[in-house]
Amino acid sequence: MQVYLDNAATTRVDKRVIQAMKPYYSKLYANASSIHLLGQRNNLDLMEAKERISKIIGGEARSIYFTSSATESNNMIVKGVALANRGGKRNKIIISEMEHPCVRESAHSLKEEGFKIEYIKPNKKGIITKAELEKIIDDKTLLVSVMMVNNEIGTINNVKQLAKLAHDHGAYFHTDAVQAVPYLEIDIKKMGIDMLSLSAHKFNGPKGVGLAYIDSKIKIKPLIVGGGQEEGLRAGTYNLPGIIGMTKALELAYNERDEYIKRVKELRDYLWKEMNKEISDLKLNGDLAKRVPANLNVMFYSIEGEAILIDLSRQGVSVSTGSACSATDLKGSYVLKSIGLDKNYLNSNVRFSLGKYNTKEEIDYTIKCLKKTVKRLRAFSPIK
Ligand SMILES: Cc1ncc(COP(=O)(O)O)c(C=O)c1O
Repeated sequence: MQVYLDNAATTRVDKRVIQAMKPYYSKLYANASSIHLLGQRNNLDLMEAKERISKIIGGEARSIYFTSSATESNNMIVKGVALANRGGKRNKIIISEMEHPCVRESAHSLKEEGFKIEYIKPNKKGIITKAELEKIIDDKTLLVSVMMVNNEIGTINNVKQLAKLAHDHGAYFHTDAVQAVPYLEIDIKKMGIDMLSLSAHKFNGPKGVGLAYIDSKIKIKPLIVGGGQEEGLRAGTYNLPGIIGMTKALELAYNERDEYIKRVKELRDYLWKEMNKEISDLKLNGDLAKRVPANLNVMFYSIEGEAILIDLSRQGVSVSTGSACSATDLKGSYVLKSIGLDKNYLNSNVRFSLGKYNTKEEIDYTIKCLKKTVKRLRAFSPIK
């Protein structure tokens, strides 16, 4: 049996999304920037895609910019805002300690440009609180960037509260909402979000397409220049099949959200309950209540998460030790370190991230395999 429990890394594309994309490869392939009728026809679909997306996430359609990924969106936003304001009185950028590497590295790169980077510490449950932001924010702060949902432990931050605090100090607020779809309702205006990033492949859409929402009052310096697409903020021929696929995937995700959330929560809770019944010495990383219903991040005392991953993988079960981007980096998770996990246990963790296509039979099989794996590995472990 093959069981895919790494849906926070990427997801299977919904068949209906593939169907929606197909015509844009075969018949409607004209460049959406071309002046001829075929191009202009496609441009209308592109504009309509922005309207359809803004109906779901709120905000204005014209503030949506299509990109190749959330990595690109986050670079575009964090660097773009900073570089457009270089030399001004606001030279401080605040990010949380739990941000994805693409936000962290974007912020780090700005040190050379004269910016000061400060970090908000999460609490032990993996939540970024207003109180911690309050300690470091001031009227020199240009930008606050805090993710809506953490990719490793699935914890949820109250971005509305954090955005309000950023605005009280005259700073902009950005949120990486990649892991929030469809678990949280996103309402850009109500939540006070100035900038936001999404990635289609995290919600059963295609790889290679994402979006950056950038409020029209905000100036950014474009990172990718060329043919002037997207009001000159992001050059490059539009990936129309991808954009249509992302739009369809987002609509499906939110239209079918209630039933999906109920189902995935039942499966996730069942996995956690059975795991505890069958295996001793486990600890859940991050808050159980304030986390998305598809995520479990578990510490297995005395054994390596990496060893568990490989052994499970041999049996057909795919899990992760954290973010996919750290597959070649065994230093231990900086996210788990930031929530105060003992350094001896930083490599003992496994992330199980469920998705739309998982079944109860798959969870039963996973538990059976996991029980064998942990027993076998613990028998060899020098730590008892
Ligand atoms: C929270 C978060 N931000 C950004 C990214 C990067 O997204 P993409 O794969 O679209 O570059 C990921 C993917 O792992 C993520 O989980």
